[in-house]
Amino acid sequence: MAGRVKFGVVGLDEMLHGGLLRASICAIVGTYGTGKTMFALQFAYEGLNRGEKVIYISLEEREELLRATMAQKGWDAKVFDDRFSLLRLDPTDFNLAINSIKSELPALIRSTGATRVVIDPISLFEGLFTDESIQRQEMFGFIEMMRDEDCTLVLTSETDVRDQNGSKYGLVEYLADTVILLRYIRSPGLTEVHLALEVVKMRRSPHSREIKPFEIQEDGIMVYSEASLF
Ligand SMILES: Nc1ncnc2c1ncn2[C@@H]1O[C@H](COP(=O)(O)OP(=O)(O)O)[C@@H](O)[C@H]1O
Ligand SMILES: [Mg+2]
Repeated sequence: MAGRVKFGVVGLDEMLHGGLLRASICAIVGTYGTGKTMFALQFAYEGLNRGEKVIYISLEEREELLRATMAQKGWDAKVFDDRFSLLRLDPTDFNLAINSIKSELPALIRSTGATRVVIDPISLFEGLFTDESIQRQEMFGFIEMMRDEDCTLVLTSETDVRDQNGSKYGLVEYLADTVILLRYIRSPGLTEVHLALEVVKMRRSPHSREIKPFEIQEDGIMVYSEASLF
C-alpha cells in the first residue's frame, strides 16, 4: 500500500489499515514485560527483510543481548549488518546519551540512509531531564527535529507502574502520530494473565479501536485480530 510502512507484526498491520504512515512517529507504550522491545525488534527486522536501512538505539539492553534475542527467533541480523546499526547508549552518561540522540542521530540517519529508526525506550532519555519544563522542551524539540527526517520512527515508552494506561511522563502520547498501548489483562478467575494491545490513536488514518489479544512466541509476535477479549 502506498505511503504505508508495514510494522511487520501479523494482525497489527491490519489494525493499522496497512501499517504505519511513512515518516510518521509511533509510540509503543506499556509496562515492563509487555513486549515493547519485541515489537520494536520485529519492526526493525521487517525493514531489514525489505532491504531497508535500520537504526536501533537501545538505552536499556546490551547489543549482545538484543542480538541473542533476535538469533533465538531465527532472525539472523548479522546477514544485514551493512544495513543495520544497532547502538547501545548508556543512559547514565547524561551528556553522551543526550548528544548522541540530539546531534548525532540526524547525521547518522542521513549518512546511513535509514528509513526505520527505533529508540528503546525513549522514557530513559526523557528521564535524563530532571526539570519538567526542560524535559517538555527537549522532547518537543526532539520530535520536531525527527519530523524533518524521511524515516519512520518507533519509540517505546514505559508506563507508570500505578497506571498502565499512560506513559511515565505523559508526553510521548501527545507527540506521537500513532500510539499503541500494550497491557496485561487478568482473566476473570485471576488464573491467567493475557497480553492485549490497542491502537489508541493514529493521525491521518482510520484504525481499529478494538482491544486485541496477542502472544509473544518463539518466532515473533502474533496478534489475534479475529479474536475478542470480551
Ligand atoms: N521466546 C519467547 N517465548 C515466549 N515469550 C517470550 C519469549 N521471549 C520473550 N517472551 C516474553 O516477552 C517478555 C519480555 O518482552 P520485552 O519486549 O522485553 O518487554 P518490555 O520491553 O516491554 O519490557 C518476557 O517477559 C516474556 O513474557
Ligand atoms: Mg524493553
